[in-house]
Amino acid sequence: MPFTIAIDGPAASGKGTIARALAQEFGFPHLDTGLLYRAVGAIGGDPTTAARGLDPEDLLRPGLRSAEAGQAASRVAAIPEVRAALIDFQRRFSRQEPGAILDGRDIGTVICPGAEVKLYVIAADETRAARRAAELGADPAVMLAELRERDARDAARDTAPLRAAPDAVILDTTAMSIDEAVAAAAALVRKRLERLAI
Ligand code: CDP
Ligand code: CDP
Repeated sequence: MPFTIAIDGPAASGKGTIARALAQEFGFPHLDTGLLYRAVGAIGGDPTTAARGLDPEDLLRPGLRSAEAGQAASRVAAIPEVRAALIDFQRRFSRQEPGAILDGRDIGTVICPGAEVKLYVIAADETRAARRAAELGADPAVMLAELRERDARDAARDTAPLRAAPDAVILDTTAMSIDEAVAAAAALVRKRLERLAI
């Protein structure tokens, strides 16, 4: 049985940073599912056609990390047919042995409801905006508005809205360094791995 780690949360909460560190520590492959939606938004044209024809090469397009690409992603991510077209790929990825890590918005709720570890990563809006602004070399006030707009759209959509799974562990990284957040997540993973080994 593969060991799946689902990491969800709002924009720039630290999901990807934690997921990459856990991938290193436990040797599991990691899929940043936000990149799928960013690529669909960047391809343009009919989003459903783009999602159905998505190629791994599309995830390497330049500019996918920009705020504009994030906004485009969140618009196409509200289309049920786009989400449906991406489910199989994500589920297949999640079932790899010995385990896999996926981060996004609906991993613990829709893509991998049976995941062994579910984390929902949050941080204060201003903290997230400051971190993303530093990362992109952008204005924190502009980032704050961008993140809030995206979170509101992601939480309000009918299909797979941004939401913590009832059994997710909430990790608030507002006052945590990256090392502290990673250590907390790794401790949780270790606990579950040990329990399953008994
Ligand atoms: O994947 P997600 O959008 O949730 O966030 P991220 O890309 O992992 O983190 C956003 C930014 O915050 C990155 O530049 C991280 O280095 C930074 N970060 C931080 O400063 N402190 C943390 N505890 C976590 C992330
Ligand atoms: O890194 P950040 O948290 O800013 O964004 P992301 O994870 O790259 O996701 C970009 C957008 O894709 C989100 O605002 C969501 O609208 C959408 N998304 C989604 O709907 N479901 C996922 N599993 C992942 C991303």
